[in-house]
Amino acid sequence: MSGPVDLAGARVLVTGASAGIGRATAVLLARAGARVVLNGRDEGRLAETRAALDGEGHRTAPFDLADGDAVPAWLKEQATLAGPFDGIAHCAGLQVGKPVRAVDQAFFDQTLHANLLSALALARGFRQKGCHGPRGAMVLVASVAAFIGQPGNVVYAASKGGLVAAARGLAMELLRDGIRVNCVAPAMVETEMMERFRRTTTADQFAAIRAAHPMGFGRPEDVAAAIAFLLSDAARWINGVTLPVDGGYLAQ
Ligand SMILES: NC(=O)c1ccc[n+]([C@@H]2O[C@H](COP(=O)([O-])OP(=O)(O)OC[C@H]3O[C@@H](n4cnc5c(N)ncnc54)[C@H](OP(=O)(O)O)[C@@H]3O)[C@@H](O)[C@H]2O)c1
Repeated sequence: MSGPVDLAGARVLVTGASAGIGRATAVLLARAGARVVLNGRDEGRLAETRAALDGEGHRTAPFDLADGDAVPAWLKEQATLAGPFDGIAHCAGLQVGKPVRAVDQAFFDQTLHANLLSALALARGFRQKGCHGPRGAMVLVASVAAFIGQPGNVVYAASKGGLVAAARGLAMELLRDGIRVNCVAPAMVETEMMERFRRTTTADQFAAIRAAHPMGFGRPEDVAAAIAFLLSDAARWINGVTLPVDGGYLAQ
């Protein structure tokens, strides 16, 4: 155990574990004693994450979560291999900016499938018999984009707003399975996603975005700490909420 969160012996699926927030979450959960199943699509980068984890019993499980109908069977397979899960940290996500005039069905489907359908499919999988322990927890990674108006980011924002709403509904629907469902909503965090976003802006635009963050940009570890808390028994009476992890961004 490291810090206030104890996940000794817990088995946790971390999606998006090949990079950024997911990787930092996997590292922290392993340090807190969890055995972690690492999901993303890039096998090589998942292996790099696994090499960075404390403790034993971690596994990589590459899979494309945008294939919603296939997720429950894949999750069942993982539970058969690794044992039932105590938690899921759903960090996988996709952000591509587009003004609404350029939004077509393919772009909508790509974003919504990666960000929202994946979460619903994981919930569907998690509640299956043999896939969860007596008490489970799921944490979805939304975004402050769900709560503010930003031009050129409408589809991503809608997918993240969908996660916030889905967490409330799932929290009620999965109650009978002993599974809590919560969200975190980060502001800008220094990851490859932010770096890709930075390349779509001018230096002045990016400086203005930085200035709008009262405590500067976050680090992946800042979000990982909130996810670890919400997964742990310390949060056993917290259900259906969205916790901003934003250095005061939404407080202004
Ligand atoms: N960084 C920010 O400023 C920020 C702010 C607010 C919210 N968020 C959210 O936080 C989460 C993590 O973001 P990040 O910054 O860490 O992003 P990142 O560095 O781009 O990493 C994204 C991760 O998602 C995985 N992924 C994407 N599509 C997938 C799919 N279809 N199936 C399986 N895995 C998939 C990627 O794995 P592969 O490449 O291996 O497929 C990668 O591990 C996302 O949900 C993002 O929307 C980020």
